[in-house]
Amino acid sequence: MLVAKGIIKSYGNLKVLRGVDLSVERGQILGLMGVNGAGKTTLISILAGLTRPDAGDVHIGGVDLLRHRRQAARHIGVAPQALGIYPTLTVQENLDCWLFTNEGVAG
Ligand SMILES: Nc1ncnc2c1ncn2[C@@H]1O[C@H](COP(=O)(O)OP(=O)(O)OP(=O)(O)O)[C@@H](O)[C@H]1O
Ligand SMILES: [Mg+2]
Repeated sequence: MLVAKGIIKSYGNLKVLRGVDLSVERGQILGLMGVNGAGKTTLISILAGLTRPDAGDVHIGGVDLLRHRRQAARHIGVAPQALGIYPTLTVQENLDCWLFTNEGVAG
């Protein structure tokens, strides 16, 4: 479902990701562990199509994320560490809100 190969990302002289490979099957749950600043959020942002890697490939559901971001994005949902949900809305209302937002973005 998700295949990433040779992901490289630097910020200036700081080499954050130095060739990350990973593969996640449909239904599989993967935990990403690392010390603060290890590059977890950077990697997730790349896999979600929010940040461009310096090098590497990402395929989601067989779709090349870097070449066909919108098509690949239909398979992706991201709940960030903070501000990911509206606490005063129900779970259903939160889902409706984000589904509506994604429909709007994807056109
Ligand atoms: N936009 C950016 N510009 C410059 N440096 C950045 C940027 N984003 C992240 N970094 C740096 O890249 C490194 C990896 O950051 P990242 O946020 O990916 O780590 P993390 O593993 O998610 O950390 P944490 O456990 O604290 O959430 C850190 O040194 C961070 O300061
Ligand atoms: Mg982080």
